[in-house]
Amino acid sequence: MAILKTDLCDLLNIEYPILQAGMGGVAFGPLAAAVSKAGGLGTIAAISPTPERLEEEIKYVRSVTDKPVCVDIGFPPRAPQKPEPVKHEDLPDPIKELQAEVEALGIEVKPVDDQAMGIDDAKRKMEICERYGVEVIACALGTPEWAVQHAHSWGAKTISMVGRASHAKRAIANGTDIVVVQGTEGGGHTGDIGLVTLLSEVLEFATVPVVAAGGLVTGAQIAGVLTQGAQGAWIGTRFINTEESSVGPNYKQSIVEADHDTTIRSLLFDGLYVRQLQNRFTEVWQGREDQLLGYPKQRVAIGPVRFAAAEADLENQQALPAGQGSGLIRDVLPAGQVLERLVRETAEALDASSGRIKYSQ
Ligand SMILES: Cc1cc2nc3c(=O)[nH]c(=O)nc-3n(C[C@H](O)[C@H](O)[C@H](O)COP(=O)(O)O)c2cc1C
Repeated sequence: MAILKTDLCDLLNIEYPILQAGMGGVAFGPLAAAVSKAGGLGTIAAISPTPERLEEEIKYVRSVTDKPVCVDIGFPPRAPQKPEPVKHEDLPDPIKELQAEVEALGIEVKPVDDQAMGIDDAKRKMEICERYGVEVIACALGTPEWAVQHAHSWGAKTISMVGRASHAKRAIANGTDIVVVQGTEGGGHTGDIGLVTLLSEVLEFATVPVVAAGGLVTGAQIAGVLTQGAQGAWIGTRFINTEESSVGPNYKQSIVEADHDTTIRSLLFDGLYVRQLQNRFTEVWQGREDQLLGYPKQRVAIGPVRFAAAEADLENQQALPAGQGSGLIRDVLPAGQVLERLVRETAEALDASSGRIKYSQ
């Protein structure tokens, strides 16, 4: 296999500077273990699962590999201490309609006690990570100083997810070790600034390694961001379409079939901006955006139908967070093979560029 290294590899004790993104509902123990085992950094997405489930996933990774693993936890600044459920009669019409459609398919929409996004929940998850000596904590939606200090107390490194230069400044001031700049191209929660611009902005002042994210699906793109100054790539959507990811075949097929313009960025997933594929889950809101409840109520209100549709892997009513790079993905492969291909393609692209571009100083 090709050699591809940056200083980030030494900092995180990994072989290749390719990090698999935390992805809710997608990235559990099997995916994280496969990526870490293959020499990248695997990440367990820990916003949605209960603390007990997180512990099981960490144990699974530890049973498969002794390589470092990352756990991604949400620290939104406006997080409620304990999110309150929304009564059925108070649900917006689009959610009631989605629920009726899901139920008509014989699928039960059960109440969900969704404590994800709550501060108490994040603290419990940090304690579990400490107990298992998790090597890297990714801070999603905010990087509070207490979380960085807690991670450092047991020797873990922190990664901060940011979508704006100002967020990166704050995360660095709060002591983070690594910043992931996620361009608007990315799947899941995402800002409105393109990766090429955001990366340059943050590189101007960053005193810690900067990793690029958003729309990265090919080695040529990774070569591009490394040349620009990134120390690594944080990759989400490409890893959805792997054998080890936890979503069903309909989700993966939707990505295979996606065109280059099938994603939208909207507030309907949870009241924060999320990029996802367009389908019935998004279209049901058309012309009725005034009924959106805002964060965190929207997440709580839509939770029962969203989780039921995801569990049943419904083609239409399921939320399908995915990045703009979806149109470049045409297969489902073992995660180790995806990593290997990305490393090889990146090396090839770096080689090809030095032959293709003539320059002198
Ligand atoms: C299905 C999905 C779920 C995601 N969930 C999370 C999450 O729980 N925590 C997080 O930090 N980022 C989450 N993200 C964003 C990723 O960490 C990453 O920044 C993004 O996927 C990069 O863009 P790409 O998908 O184009 O590669 C999610 C992305 C996707 C596609």
